[in-house]
Amino acid sequence: MVEHKNEQEVLIEEVEVEESVIAVHELVPFRGTVDDNMEHIADMTDQFSQTMDPILRMYNAAMSATMARLEIIEDEFKYRKLRCPIHHMDTRLKSAQSILGKLQKKDLDLTLSAACNNIYDIAGIRVVCSYIKDVYLIRDRLMAQDDLFIMQIKDYIQTPKENGYRSLHMVIRVPVYFMNKKQMVPVELQIRTLAMDLWASLEHDIKYKSLYQGVTADFSDELKECSRLIYEAEEKMETMNSILEK
Ligand code: GTP
Ligand code: MG
Repeated sequence: MVEHKNEQEVLIEEVEVEESVIAVHELVPFRGTVDDNMEHIADMTDQFSQTMDPILRMYNAAMSATMARLEIIEDEFKYRKLRCPIHHMDTRLKSAQSILGKLQKKDLDLTLSAACNNIYDIAGIRVVCSYIKDVYLIRDRLMAQDDLFIMQIKDYIQTPKENGYRSLHMVIRVPVYFMNKKQMVPVELQIRTLAMDLWASLEHDIKYKSLYQGVTADFSDELKECSRLIYEAEEKMETMNSILEK
């Protein structure tokens, strides 16, 4: 395992995986062939979604498998009548169109192989926790599961983004079994507190509105300030909680 800083000075741990390459042809257990090249088919809507279907199903399966693990953690706390570290969770599967868009944006080949081996957020889970310590508890519980492969961790809590964004991002590979074949499928997890989620949701909304409604106002300083204020409030409430949970 190597630790290094990327251009945003974010702590990243990346691990090379032996089983990292996803062979798309092996993912289609019930159909004979799959056209790997999306460039040829991108303009044919029906064929495009048909080609993507087995791939998206695989990611959906990986997402459900990961959700099941998180729900087991949740359930364990409820059963023990302890405060649950998970407040709520959301899942989202990237659409075929948005996978294509991301490949184009990243200037990658428009193939399924390029998508599966370069885009790690096709399956995404957001875990929203009450307190910062819960975020790390979830990270540690996942890291302790020895059949999960941790591909990447970006700690934007320890090192927030320049704009004030805070969250813990993990890319894990989850085993998914098809017939007699095991595939390690990447799932992106964004683990954050309610306060971080509040900021990220509203920042996304404000950014989206100014992009698409032609508003030229620059709110970056205000957004950074909001992030700081929210963090301050969060810290105070964490302190109260830790006194009570001692
Ligand atoms: P991509 O995965 O290609 O998007 O780039 P990356 O890996 O450099 O991005 P990163 O892991 O930092 O962020 C991935 C996801 O985190 C995004 O798709 C967003 O959902 C979320 N995110 C990252 N930065 C921000 C931000 O500044 N504001 C908000 N609201 N969300 C963010
Ligand atoms: Mg990413």
